[in-house]
Amino acid sequence: MHPAPPRPLPALLAAMPKAELHIHIEGSLEPELMFRLAQRNGVRLPYASVEDLRKAYAFSNLQSFLDIYYAGASVLVKEEDFYDMAWAYLQRARHDNVLRAEIFFDPQTHTARGVAMETVIGGLYRACQDAHNLGLDAELILCFLRHLSEEDAFDTLEQALPFRDRFIGVGLDSSEVGHPPEKFARVFARCRQLGLHLVAHAGEEGPPEYVWSALDVLKVERVDHGVQSAKDPALMKRLAQDRIPLTVCPLSNLKLRVVPTLEQHNLRALLDAGLVATVNSDDPAYFGGYINANFLQTFAATGLDVRHAYLLARNSFEASFAEPSAKQRYIERLDVEFNTA
Ligand code: HPA
Ligand code: ZN
Repeated sequence: MHPAPPRPLPALLAAMPKAELHIHIEGSLEPELMFRLAQRNGVRLPYASVEDLRKAYAFSNLQSFLDIYYAGASVLVKEEDFYDMAWAYLQRARHDNVLRAEIFFDPQTHTARGVAMETVIGGLYRACQDAHNLGLDAELILCFLRHLSEEDAFDTLEQALPFRDRFIGVGLDSSEVGHPPEKFARVFARCRQLGLHLVAHAGEEGPPEYVWSALDVLKVERVDHGVQSAKDPALMKRLAQDRIPLTVCPLSNLKLRVVPTLEQHNLRALLDAGLVATVNSDDPAYFGGYINANFLQTFAATGLDVRHAYLLARNSFEASFAEPSAKQRYIERLDVEFNTA
């Protein structure tokens, strides 16, 4: 027996088993499918063509993206639209060797247009179930839109509770600055009572104080983005000590100008400080790449190495909401890939 030859890093990054924990399903809607659904549903898009739409994907900050992202979601009307979108993502995720995906969805974007909660969750959930045939475990996390009121979030939770067994947790997304986590203290407390997992976007554009508030007021188990935490040494210590994972999205941070270049991304600093950082795609149809593109481009730009690759993949499984036995299974497969089993 000869030991397996060492694999080039890009091949290893692509092949290694991983979990994706920060993906907005509406952000996986590719322009081609968007136009197909627009036609199928008789919805008019304010763009003449796929090329025209792609040209609009030049963002200056989070809000400039969100405006286009919410407009794009208007083509989603029927249960099968939600299914088709989720199924397209799941196939891509499987191709990128994602073994587990915890998928965000924004029900308020749809219910505000008169689409029923059952239609949204029904289509997404059916795709997640079908993903088991691909060898991919997929779960849903319902996100509240933070630019709307807490009352609206409570209404949304109420509408979703008949489908409580079809989502594993709740999150908080949309325009961060001016909408601190504590605005949603009561609705998150209620979700906690209901036994839902809790996550929130914090420290994407917002200050470290928003990350503290997500931890101490909302009591989240993971922080989405969280990259601004590096500005606050005490916060970094807290995140490391309590092993609170950060779901980092490097290409998103680049496209929304959270960082000027990928070379200047602080992923390495987060790992060096002992944080449970992970790599994710956020809104891959808008930001130029799915999870493997995020790994490949970030490693090429920052010089991370094979040890970081293993650590990030392992962190993704540890940070997931999978059962302990499933986590162990995922990590065994990871160890086989790295010849460390
Ligand atoms: N931040 C906040 N809200 C979002 C994002 C994001 O990166 N993507 C989709 N909704
Ligand atoms: Zn996000």
